[in-house]
Amino acid sequence: MSGAPAPDELLSIAIRVAREAAATAHRMRSEAIGDVQTKSTDTDVVTAADKAVERQVIEALQAGRPGDTVLGEEYGGGAAPVEPGAVRWILDPIDGTVNYLYGVPHYAVSLAAEVDGVVVAGVVRNIVTGDEWTATRGGGAWRDGRRLTGSSETELGQTLVGTGFGYDSRRRDHQTAVLHRMITRIRDIRRLGSASLDLCFTAEGILDAFFEKGLNHWDHAAGGLIAAEAGLLVTGLAGREPGVDMVLVAPPALHGPLHDLLVELDASGGA
Ligand code: IPD
Ligand code: CA
Repeated sequence: MSGAPAPDELLSIAIRVAREAAATAHRMRSEAIGDVQTKSTDTDVVTAADKAVERQVIEALQAGRPGDTVLGEEYGGGAAPVEPGAVRWILDPIDGTVNYLYGVPHYAVSLAAEVDGVVVAGVVRNIVTGDEWTATRGGGAWRDGRRLTGSSETELGQTLVGTGFGYDSRRRDHQTAVLHRMITRIRDIRRLGSASLDLCFTAEGILDAFFEKGLNHWDHAAGGLIAAEAGLLVTGLAGREPGVDMVLVAPPALHGPLHDLLVELDASGGA
């Protein structure tokens, strides 16, 4: 990590830029929801605000740190830098775009800083409420000055599990089949519509655990660090890293039972 600023310094930049981004998304909402396009499928929407916010963040980061790269949901870019110590920012300008479109007050800016392929700082900010979760690697996970430690639940049958669905109908078909068989084995399911906020809720213990297949790096980079720094296990299945096949987040006592249930139900399978 030689040459990279300290995680605290990167977090300060991330917080400032994410707050400005959230203000723009909030201010633009009424005009932005009249300018909507679709992406991978007819249900995968992008508004003018998703694009404007991403451009704003890229410009702000490049103004302050011109050598860094940015991987964002809407414009891509940001191939992993090869130079040791280089910083790559991982951005979801609006995570929960369908909530943004409908006015469900649950969508966020998610911004993380990665050095040498490792996320070292991250912030997730709810654009409506201003709730903000932060973490630095090794420095804990925080919300409003309070350190987060996740849920103390130990019984799978009492577990409130967050999850989400992809935009492809074949993938949704498999995901709902998994839930159909899971729902009798846990307390309940929540589908809140923003993976980054799901991860922060899990870090805070509002949800006991979370899993989703098909997430992109920008959906879980910041929230994954926040959950890990809250003491949760953030993994894929069968020893794999968290990634597009599966992101599973749970306190140590619940991770094994939930992991095994997901394997039994072939939750990484399907489209
Ligand atoms: C989506 C949300 C949703 C999750 C989807 C994501 P977007 O992100 O995080 O909760 O279930 O998989 O794609 O499209 O609103 O940025
Ligand atoms: Ca998004």
